[in-house]
Amino acid sequence: ETGYFTYDPAFTSTASCESQITYIDGDKGVLLHRGYPIEQLATDSDFPEVCYLLLHGELPSAEEKEQFTRDITYHTMVHEQVSTFYRGFRRDAHPMAILCGVTGALSSFYHDSTDITDPVQRMIASHRLIAKMPTLAAMAYKYSVGQPFVYPRNDLSYAQNFLHLMFSVPAEPYTINPVLCRAIDRIFILHADHEQNASSSTVRLAGSSGANPFACIAAGIASLWGPAHGGANEAVLKMLTQIGRPERIPEFIERAKNKDDPFRLMGFGHRVYKNFDPRAQVLRKTCHEVLGELGITNEPLLDIAMELERIALEDEYFIERKLYPNVDFYSGIIFKAIGIPVSMFTVLFAIARTAGWIAQWKEMIESPDMKIGRPRQLYTGRPQRDYVPLDRRN
Ligand code: SDX
Repeated sequence: ETGYFTYDPAFTSTASCESQITYIDGDKGVLLHRGYPIEQLATDSDFPEVCYLLLHGELPSAEEKEQFTRDITYHTMVHEQVSTFYRGFRRDAHPMAILCGVTGALSSFYHDSTDITDPVQRMIASHRLIAKMPTLAAMAYKYSVGQPFVYPRNDLSYAQNFLHLMFSVPAEPYTINPVLCRAIDRIFILHADHEQNASSSTVRLAGSSGANPFACIAAGIASLWGPAHGGANEAVLKMLTQIGRPERIPEFIERAKNKDDPFRLMGFGHRVYKNFDPRAQVLRKTCHEVLGELGITNEPLLDIAMELERIALEDEYFIERKLYPNVDFYSGIIFKAIGIPVSMFTVLFAIARTAGWIAQWKEMIESPDMKIGRPRQLYTGRPQRDYVPLDRRN
């Protein structure tokens, strides 16, 4: 018994940690953040409010929300010297490589975040990371396209600021499209946290030694980058482009079933969900809304995605293995409609997941029985034996 949910004793003995932040029921396709269903948060809340909920456990009052939004807004700039780190990267460096590097480098700017026993410093570090991630991310994009870095504006919302940071140029005014803003905000909410996925577990393990939180988040970014995890949204777009037209879908489905071909259907399957990923359901609907509101009537990638989903969901191989579209299946199509380059897709995932990473880091640091992580292993190597000098080895 954990108060609200009953777990099979066999499961509790293998659980790596306890947490009050996110609950997933993989069989039922349920995702709750502090008890609130993701479907309701995605349609009724906004990303800063979900950040507050993940960090503090309750939805903020109007006053708390205003204060939190101000705290985040007034941390969106980065130290001017941070821009020099970008100039050390090749222009064609993957933005996730840049984000991982500069986020780790921020640990050299905030020595006060090394004393993680101080709750005030923990909260400031949390605000700084949530606030600065869009700025760092957009700087990686600007650097890749040779445009000047853009400063954040305090009169803009979190999602508005991100679009401003990404697409404003000094030469002409940039009009922020409310449809794109709403889509970005909703996508950030849907990617904010997801229990003990690979990158969140990485942040917890790194943080359990007392390491600087900026360095721990850099470790999470590294883990998220993988195509089996957050890198899947970029891989889905590449896969849909590679398929090219609906008639080629059966060929790719056969390749995905073919075990000697490492190809998998990107955006399908999940370690936990053996039903629809509830986030994919919301994203599927958002995808149609965004394309419709932007007047994009023929998006071939969406046609291929819809047909691929239809065929896969009727295919014995996928049905038997309970492989459904996950959060990454539709997000890339929305990002493409917004004008986000494919290489930046996982970066947007990292911006959103920073909220979950830092909420879980804070929860772990504040837990009274926190110990340094030490996963147990089963040794399957050789039994003890004596050293063989070089001249006696064959
Ligand atoms: C995310 O953990 C999280 O919460 C992650 C995430 C989050 O918010 O943090 O939800 C975000 O990472 C979503 C997942 C994004 N990744 C992808 O879309 C990449 C494609 N998906 C696969 O790589 C795969 O589904 C995984 C990695 C997600 C899960 O892999 P598993 O653990 O092997 O999946 P499984 O145990 O359910 O697989 C069962 C079977 C296996 O075949 P058999 O050995 O039984 O014959 O299904 C096969 C797998 O080979 N399989 C697939 C497949 N996914 C699983 N076959 C073809 N295409 C696929 N996509």
